[in-house]
Amino acid sequence: MIKLPASIRYLALLAALLLSVVIALTLLPADMTTDDGPIVSDISESELIARGEYLTTAGNCVSCHTAPGGEFMAGGLPFETPFGRVYSTNISPDTETGIGNWTEWEFLNSLRHGVRPNGEHLYPVFPYTTYTKVLNEDIAAMFAYLKSIPAVRQAPSENALRFPFNQRALLGFWKALFFDSGAFESDPAQSEQLNRGAYLVEALSHCSACHTPRNSLGAQRSHLAMSGGEYLDRVADGNYYPWSAPNLTSSARGLGLWSQQDVEDYLKTTRNDFIESYGPMNEVILNSTAHLSEGDIASIAMYLKSLPAVDEAAAVEPDSQIMGRGRTVYNLHCGTCHLPTGQGDSKMAPRLNGGSLVVQSDNPASMINAILYGPQLPLHGLSQKWREPMKEFQYLLDDEEVAAAASYIRNSWGNSAGLITTDQVARQR
Ligand code: HEC
Ligand code: HEC
Ligand code: HEC
Repeated sequence: MIKLPASIRYLALLAALLLSVVIALTLLPADMTTDDGPIVSDISESELIARGEYLTTAGNCVSCHTAPGGEFMAGGLPFETPFGRVYSTNISPDTETGIGNWTEWEFLNSLRHGVRPNGEHLYPVFPYTTYTKVLNEDIAAMFAYLKSIPAVRQAPSENALRFPFNQRALLGFWKALFFDSGAFESDPAQSEQLNRGAYLVEALSHCSACHTPRNSLGAQRSHLAMSGGEYLDRVADGNYYPWSAPNLTSSARGLGLWSQQDVEDYLKTTRNDFIESYGPMNEVILNSTAHLSEGDIASIAMYLKSLPAVDEAAAVEPDSQIMGRGRTVYNLHCGTCHLPTGQGDSKMAPRLNGGSLVVQSDNPASMINAILYGPQLPLHGLSQKWREPMKEFQYLLDDEEVAAAASYIRNSWGNSAGLITTDQVARQR
């Protein structure tokens, strides 16, 4: 028999120990709340449904559970993750393919603990890591509402995840490491309005699902909460690329740039004095925040403005050659609308000097997407804001030109957001 050196034997023992911990954790029965009788009974059924509809809108379930052109809440929307593709499920009240046979408590368990009625773990693409905080009576109202919408028979699509990520049991391990379940608890030291804002943002609106950075196993890095995240989503031409969701803490390059009123205007109407929304935020606003009451929007904005600053990393300044090159590209292709001063024009284009969080962000993915594919405008009933839309530059400018123009914008007119490299542009094509 071969005698292994002590260090290897030690490592093998450690690996075996670790493996048994993993196995033990994945075999652990899923955390569930047991059925404890009806959750709310003091309001009428129609009031309960109306409340549920409002909360379902605040949670923006529709953006993920209704496919473009598909039936309401019937699922089937694909989500591209670093681990493969996951489809949203049918949450209409169909008894075979939806949640028609679920009890209120089974529904509660899916949101609070990320488990199905049969005990299977759910993938955290479904943001139960934040919905876990939704209060029982609000979950019951959402359930009453979802039971009241038309049932659609549509079987869920098969996920396409790579091994081992296609093993739902492994999520038990993931949850043990990264998931704390439990309803929101208000902070008695804070005002009612701030607590309401915290509840809406942290529990229902799940802004953190996109705006908080994640580790390599897809879990949110809580000490960097809301300081900017990245995930895969569609660009204007329908393909999937990384998007950066900017810093929503009060950093000088994050939400510190906007007043509470700017945040309210943006979440209510897609517009404020600086910019108009584009890309993934269009749906967040038009399907969700635009429908919330003035009071709730004010609470959300107040809470966001109260988040302590998590600052960006120090920026690398571009050299004078890149700045010169960038100025030429900018003045030729961008300055006609955004103006050579970067100040924008109320009819032609938004300002790019201080005000757009996308421009100030450490991670330039979303800024580059706007340039390469054109910023996709929100489709709403408001009068058109701009004389003509910004076109895509993916065929007109090469990586080096886009990098130079973007670096120039990020380091002119008082901006100091740092260099963008050719590689960072190439990554977005
Ligand atoms: C970011 C996208 C996203 C949002 C927002 C979202 N879901 Fe989902 N949901 C999913 C995905 C993807 C799955 C499938 C997860 C899986 O297969 O493990 C899912 C699964 C579910 C399930 C489990 C269904 C089953 O058959 O096991 C329920 C229930 C559910 N969602 C309800 C909701 C409700 C209610 C809301 C709004 C409060 C909501 N979801 C918002 C993406 C989302
Ligand atoms: C599905 C992912 C996603 C969710 C959920 C989300 N965001 Fe965003 N957000 C983005 C992305 C990506 C950007 C940058 C590109 C864009 O504007 O679409 C962004 C940009 C922003 C900006 C800066 C806009 C600009 O152009 O400077 C603000 C402010 C913002 N989000 C607030 C919120 C708030 C508040 C919530 C929760 C109510 C939220 N977001 C939820 C993905 C998301
Ligand atoms: C025809 C006029 C026009 C030209 C030319 C143009 N843009 Fe734009 N740009 C716009 C408009 C309009 C928007 C706002 C889109 C919206 O409403 O979301 C915009 C938005 C942007 C944004 C997103 C800002 C934010 O946070 O919302 C960036 C970045 C940007 N442009 C950069 C550029 C660059 C770089 C060029 C040149 C390569 C350029 N633009 C050329 C009109 C133009």
